[in-house]
Amino acid sequence: MIAADTTHRSSKQELEDLIRARYSLIYVTSHEENRVEEAMRKLCMEREMRLEVWSITEGFKVIANGSGTRDVKDPMKALDHVLRGEGKALYVLRDFHPFLKEPAVVRRLRDAATELRKTKKSLVVLSAVTKIPPELEKSIAAVVDWDLPNRREIEESARKLLAQAPVATQQVIEQDPTFMEHVVEAALGLTLVEVENVYAKSMVRTHTFDLETILEEKKQIIRKSGLLEYYEHREEFSDVGGMEVLKDWLIKRRNAFSSRARDFGLPLPKGMLLIGVPGTGKSLTAKAVGALWRMPLLRLDVGKIFGGLVGSSEENIRTVIKTAEAIAPAILWIDELEKGFSGTASSGQTDGGTTSRVFGSFITWLQEKTSPVFVIATANNVHQLPPELLRKGRFDEIFFCDLPDRDDRRQIIDIHIRRKGRDAAQFDLDKLVDATVDYSGAEIEQAVVAAMYDAFDTGNDLNTEGLLSTIKDIVPLAVTMREQIDAMREWARTRARMASTRKAVARPKDAGWMAKYGGQRSGLGDKTPESTADDGERKLEL
Ligand SMILES: Nc1ncnc2c1ncn2[C@@H]1O[C@H](COP(=O)(O)OP(=O)(O)OP(=O)(O)O)[C@@H](O)[C@H]1O
Ligand SMILES: [Mg+2]
Repeated sequence: MIAADTTHRSSKQELEDLIRARYSLIYVTSHEENRVEEAMRKLCMEREMRLEVWSITEGFKVIANGSGTRDVKDPMKALDHVLRGEGKALYVLRDFHPFLKEPAVVRRLRDAATELRKTKKSLVVLSAVTKIPPELEKSIAAVVDWDLPNRREIEESARKLLAQAPVATQQVIEQDPTFMEHVVEAALGLTLVEVENVYAKSMVRTHTFDLETILEEKKQIIRKSGLLEYYEHREEFSDVGGMEVLKDWLIKRRNAFSSRARDFGLPLPKGMLLIGVPGTGKSLTAKAVGALWRMPLLRLDVGKIFGGLVGSSEENIRTVIKTAEAIAPAILWIDELEKGFSGTASSGQTDGGTTSRVFGSFITWLQEKTSPVFVIATANNVHQLPPELLRKGRFDEIFFCDLPDRDDRRQIIDIHIRRKGRDAAQFDLDKLVDATVDYSGAEIEQAVVAAMYDAFDTGNDLNTEGLLSTIKDIVPLAVTMREQIDAMREWARTRARMASTRKAVARPKDAGWMAKYGGQRSGLGDKTPESTADDGERKLEL
């Protein structure tokens, strides 16, 4: 059983703390206005506070502990109304951020922040984006990035739909105590409207909750955000050759996210950084961990955080963290880390400090996160990485992936021959190992693929001679990049742990632990269905 996240405070609790601590002006970011207001309504009922919600089209409306409307559509008048209000109250201003451009509104808000502190009233600006003008930064003492729906909320939504499913389906689902848990898990990371949509689509198509349909829809939705990719477990752990130390480390932690591990007193693993020579299997390992730990893998495109194509960089990193935390326990894989964060040091001069701010919030999260999100970062160029990243406490371990040694190459060759459906025992592995000194795993794979083409062309089958000949044709990167690789090794000698030991004696054959620890395929298809968004109760045509 995977532990539910119990240490993480919910946004509702966070907001309650802020209200109790007399924060008078709070900014809440969420795309889910209805859901957030519903949580606030509950909170106000519990705390016996009046809740008034404002919008430019309707003015104020009391939605908890009272009733009535107030026809104040003008933003300035709305603020006056808040200041004049009596008793304990929470005021929510929907989509107020465009008015934060008006100097008079900003001034009035700043005054209001000071005034309200002396009362039992708090003011929330609720918006899908965080846009705070610098003049207000000091007055808005807190920004709450509202959580995505948790397991309980998602289950409620699933059960509502289930009530409309055919009786036979309901019975089948109710008989399996873990089924609902999987249905809920499959939808984590989506907004409530998206959850309802994917469930509804599954019901209409398959007349039940079909996990593949739900996961496939979720993959599409996450991809559409433009930042993250929900990764299928295509690579298995047994596809990774060599790197015994790294693999042992990962195997040792495969149950570290369970409730048993928490009870035992283990800390949550934070993350690891894989650096090293190109083509040595860093990305491959990251993907394989998902299968080994049976945890969903989210791949982050760091470049896109800063690309300016989707949202602002700050908004983007928050979205990524929020999604990863909602899906947790999950792995957040940041490939080619240096591509996003290399400009941190010069950020003040080049981009007004954006890169270093975004990097700063990422680092803080990495160090302080209480949610079971394991970060795997991979990088090639250590010299481009900001030194703060390498400080103790950021990652649990930094591994250096060097070129494979003899034993490692033997495993890698074996893996790639087998992946082509051939029997490795029919090949002279010793000769192949000798011929591939200084070849990376990627180059070995490249040689196998080239030899397959040759064999197909000449009408032979893949064999040792064919492989030896394609190996000869490849000039390994290690030859052209000798100096860079040496510099990297020197760097790593004191700062990182070797992913593989240069061992004199061969370890027992890989096959044993491969059979034991090899991952499982998830079996997702590659359909690309559309998803549509709409609100409200729905009646399905089943
Ligand atoms: N240790 C290995 N075992 C098996 N195959 C490997 C190994 N290393 C590399 N390969 C093969 O090479 C391909 C490319 O490797 P991968 O992308 O993981 O390298 P990388 O270290 O991430 O390189 P880069 O630094 O260029 O990103 C893999 O998909 C795999 O087929
Ligand atoms: Mg890579």
